[in-house]
Amino acid sequence: MATRTQSRSSNRSTSGRSSGSSRSDSRSAFSWGDNAEPMLGAALAGVALGFAANFGRKAVMQGMSAAAGDWDEVLAAEHDATMTIFDKMLATDETQTFKRRMLLTKLCHSLDKHAYEEEMVVYPALREANEAVDADHLEHDHGQMKTFIYELGQMETNAPNWLERIREFRQLISRHAHMEEEQVFPRFKEGLSEEQNARITSMVNRDGFWMA
Ligand SMILES: [Fe+2]
Ligand SMILES: [Fe+2]
Repeated sequence: MATRTQSRSSNRSTSGRSSGSSRSDSRSAFSWGDNAEPMLGAALAGVALGFAANFGRKAVMQGMSAAAGDWDEVLAAEHDATMTIFDKMLATDETQTFKRRMLLTKLCHSLDKHAYEEEMVVYPALREANEAVDADHLEHDHGQMKTFIYELGQMETNAPNWLERIREFRQLISRHAHMEEEQVFPRFKEGLSEEQNARITSMVNRDGFWMA
């Protein structure tokens, strides 16, 4: 029995279209040409490499957070990392527009990931444990954070009031993080069984991985 390659080359050597119903003779307008397979192979290899690299990057990013321990420690470590970004922003001056833009992008990404973990896992779990008032209050704060991000996205990074807005934004996050770390999370964690605690940690890490 002829291999696919053999049958293709023998068909090419004959008169072509009218000679039969082989695969190569029935090319449509969507045929990619003789070099399609190597090209497709290279493209797929590239895509696979891209996936592997992205997977590795996510694993490293979330691995760093997960190394912090339980879900509340993971989230507290992310609060600290966010504050560090704010401090770097506050140390810039209006000539450092590129650095400010880069830091703002980093801040948005870090807050997006963090908010996703809390809004998709921790706050729903709080509501399930009859802590809906706290969950709603905290989620309302997240809404205000998005408004800050929206406004900062429209501002020039050398605007005279840029630092002032960043300072106000930092204050909001600092107050919010303290409420989570010192009041809401410890009280909630106290009522969790070991198994519930482990499940929340694993869900926070899973969502953090996909958002990393
Ligand atoms: Fe939060
Ligand atoms: Fe938080």
